[in-house]
Amino acid sequence: MAEKVADLSGEEREKRIAELKAKMQASAKKAKAGAEEPGVQTVRVEAVKTVAPSVEAPTAMVVEKTATSTVAVESSAPIKSATNGAATNGAAEIARATTVATPEPVFVEDPPEVKARKEMNRREFLTYAWGGVLGLVTLQSAVGLFQFMMPRFKAGEFGGVFYLGPETALPQIGASPEAVTSGKFWLVNTEDQGPIALYMVCTHLGCLYKWEQANNRFECPCHGSKFTREGFFIEGPAPRSLDQFVVTIENGEVAVNTGRRINGAPAAESPARVIPT
Ligand code: FES
Repeated sequence: MAEKVADLSGEEREKRIAELKAKMQASAKKAKAGAEEPGVQTVRVEAVKTVAPSVEAPTAMVVEKTATSTVAVESSAPIKSATNGAATNGAAEIARATTVATPEPVFVEDPPEVKARKEMNRREFLTYAWGGVLGLVTLQSAVGLFQFMMPRFKAGEFGGVFYLGPETALPQIGASPEAVTSGKFWLVNTEDQGPIALYMVCTHLGCLYKWEQANNRFECPCHGSKFTREGFFIEGPAPRSLDQFVVTIENGEVAVNTGRRINGAPAAESPARVIPT
């Protein structure tokens, strides 16, 4: 049973007060440690008034609720210890209580300025989203236009430009045609037209005709169409003379553009046409 401090003799009273102070400090440490535990709110004593030994019971204490607010409690009743449950009187006592008071959620409507700010954020988001979509569409259109405008074939590939060197490097006038298979054309140096490039595909049904040196003409092995060295229709089922690619002289160099093809004149207009008798 706990003794009243007032009943103790002087030395014992001092000893008792010292014990209580030590206990108070230990409890304060425990309370501080407990406050650091998540989900636990600790009520601890911050300051204690010590009453005179001759006065019984009244005790004043300040209790701080560390979680959200500070509460001052003044009590004259005996305080029950949270640790051992024993009632103590008079001297300061530590009250350590653990509460799990979870505040109920309170829904507060946003003030008008906050609402306006949120609305503005939505509008800004939509504006940026539309801007991004329009930017992508514009970029895609620009890329498509660029690809359309740019040549699809590189130089030296069929469909592109072939550079054959200076005119002096061309076959002699009257010499046999020279096949440029990568460009799918026969290169012929003529007296009247200069260098010409004849498309290697027959104008009838697309066979590859050949140069027949013995006959000094082109002949198609498929259906027998025949053409002069300059590509004029002679005879056969072909509807027109041989097609040609555009030939230009660029900076003294012969260039054949296989991307630009000129259809041969109709067979009926060919000066070399042989009319069957
Ligand atoms: Fe050449 Fe028919 S494909 S004559």
